[in-house]
This record gives sequence, structure tokens and C-alpha cells, in this order.
Amino acid sequence: MSKFVVENAGDTKLLAQTVANYLQKGDLVILSGDLGSGKTVFARELIGHMGVKEIVTSPTFVLVKSYQGRVAIDHIDIYRIVDPDELDILCIGDLLEDGHLVVIEWGERALGLLGPSYVQITFERIDSEFSIDEEVAGTAKRLVTVDLNGPKFKDRMMQLEAEIEAIWSVA
Ligand SMILES: Nc1ncnc2c1ncn2[C@@H]1O[C@H](COP(=O)(O)OP(=O)(O)OP(=O)(O)O)[C@@H](O)[C@H]1O
Ligand SMILES: [Mg+2]
Repeated sequence: MSKFVVENAGDTKLLAQTVANYLQKGDLVILSGDLGSGKTVFARELIGHMGVKEIVTSPTFVLVKSYQGRVAIDHIDIYRIVDPDELDILCIGDLLEDGHLVVIEWGERALGLLGPSYVQITFERIDSEFSIDEEVAGTAKRLVTVDLNGPKFKDRMMQLEAEIEAIWSVA
């Protein structure tokens, strides 16, 4: 697990590119953090870096948006799903089995249903030291946690952690 501070939205995008380089078909990425903490900023950059040329928009209202890059990608937002049974209709397990890369905002809510292997990125605001202007401009810091769980990520985790440590000051 790596925990460190990203300086601004551009830094969050650099992290998304860094993580994207380690992702493969069939991987699950869980994005956690409060409303407006940077999950979609991260996901958009990650999906673009996976070779998707079209514009990536937030799936908050449509639940799922699917893309074809160097792998098939599904960007899912389950903020609006309150009943865990409703998650079944998204067939996330089938998407993973079919080799899709699945990225889920608020995905920690689905973890019990999805097996032990996943990458989790968590964004936390740092106190209330940033103004609304800085938030909108994308110049607020975030405390980020990157965690790769499950045996299939063991080798990749060591490589990714080393790369993160070379760029950010890890706590
Ligand atoms: N360091 C940062 N990283 C990412 N976004 C930042 C940062 N600093 C400020 N921001 C701003 O925070 C907002 C993040 O919005 P985003 O839509 O990515 O949040 P979200 O976590 O997806 O929210 P939601 O839960 O509503 O889907 C953007 O307006 C962005 O400019
Ligand atoms: Mg979002």
C-alpha cells in the first residue's frame, strides 16, 4: 500500500497514467472518496491512457459507460445504488470474466460481491484548507492511498509501488 499527497488535478492525472500502465484485461479498479474528491478526474485520465480516444464523461447518471481501448473498459458509478441487490443488474462479475477492465466509482460498496483481487485508489481532502476557487481550479491537494489486493497483483504491486515512490514522497 502507498500513501502520499498529490498536489493538484494534474498530479492526479499523472497518477492515473502511472497506474494505467500496470493494468490488464480483467482487472477491477475501485475508486473511493467523498463527492468531488477526484474519482472521475482520475478515471477519465486512466481510460484515455488505455487508448480510448473519445471523450470520457462521468457515469453518475447512466451508471455504466463502456469504451474500447487497448482492452474493453467499463466505467461504472454506483453512488446512486442504495440496494446491494441492484448491483446484480450491472453483472460486474461477468464483465470481469469477459476480460473487461472495470473501473467503479464508490466501488467499495460492492467489494463484498466481487472477489479478493482489486486495485483500490482512495482520495481524501486535506482538512478544509482549500477554497472553493482552488477546488474548481483543480489546485487542491489530496491524500491518496493506492492499494493492490489479491495474489494476482503481487508482482505488479512491487513494481508500481517502486514507481510511485520515485515520483511522490510516500509516508
Ligand atoms: N488534486 C486534485 N485531484 C483531483 N481533482 C481535484 C484536485 N484538486 C481539486 N480538484 C477538483 O476536484 C473536482 C473533482 O471532481 P470529480 O468529478 O473527479 O470528483 P468525484 O470524486 O468523481 O465526485 P463524485 O463522487 O461526485 O463522482 C474537480 O472539480 C477538480 O478540478
Ligand atoms: Mg465522479
